[in-house]
Amino acid sequence: MRLILLGAPGAGKGTQAQFICERYNIPQISTGDMLRAAVKEGSELGLKAKEIMSSGGLVSDDLIIALVKERIAQPDCENGFLFDGFPRTIPQADAMKEAGVKIDHVLEIAVADEEIVKRLAGRRVHPGSGRVYHIEYNPPREAGKDDVTGEPLIQREDDSESTVRHRLSVYHDQTAPLVDYYKQWAEKEPQAAPVYHRVDGVGSVDDITAQVRQALDD
Ligand code: AP5
Ligand code: ZN
Repeated sequence: MRLILLGAPGAGKGTQAQFICERYNIPQISTGDMLRAAVKEGSELGLKAKEIMSSGGLVSDDLIIALVKERIAQPDCENGFLFDGFPRTIPQADAMKEAGVKIDHVLEIAVADEEIVKRLAGRRVHPGSGRVYHIEYNPPREAGKDDVTGEPLIQREDDSESTVRHRLSVYHDQTAPLVDYYKQWAEKEPQAAPVYHRVDGVGSVDDITAQVRQALDD
């Protein structure tokens, strides 16, 4: 299965990706996680991405497209993969189309902006694995610690309210047009285009997981 998770920052892409990747046994390709790892390593890509990411802007299409093409050529992607946070612009989506990367499903997780600001203020992450928690809505078993490794959880640098608002405006300008892009493609070329699903992302994590499962198993 090859799948795109589409949704605003904080919509729950990373949270639902954990469930989907386990169920379908496919790797999660989160461009955000890959970029954060590059920043941590101090690689050339990381140096280019660092400032852009902390301001909430988008890293250039060329860098991202090259990163993803290299990643999906790895052997663990043979049976499929889940894109989390990619594509995020029309040129990124076009690049996959032009490279003949066939996607089976696009799954949009829809959440209103005000809910997102609340979610991101309470988010905590395990930097090593990308596992995501929320202090109130999805707390770890032990406060401040990752369930699997027991290592400390951190807050993402780009989760301050002003940066979140900027990320949301970038999302509406540059990423939201992909909703119509994929819907129109599915209408025009139902054989070639991915199947489009929309899930209401407000509700408990388990409720959303149930909706995701239903959409993908249909
Ligand atoms: P990225 O890491 O992709 O961030 P994002 O898209 O802004 O998405 P988030 O990770 O913030 O949210 P999410 O949808 O995964 O939500 P989560 O599950 O964590 O990108 C970061 C940066 O990298 C970008 O700003 C850009 O600079 C760069 N970048 C990345 N990809 C790029 C690309 N393709 N092109 C260019 N630049 C790129 O959930 C959020 C919180 O809500 C958590 O606390 C969670 O526990 C909680 N939660 C989840 N579900 C629920 C629920 N149902 N109810 C209540 N709380 C919930
Ligand atoms: Zn995420």
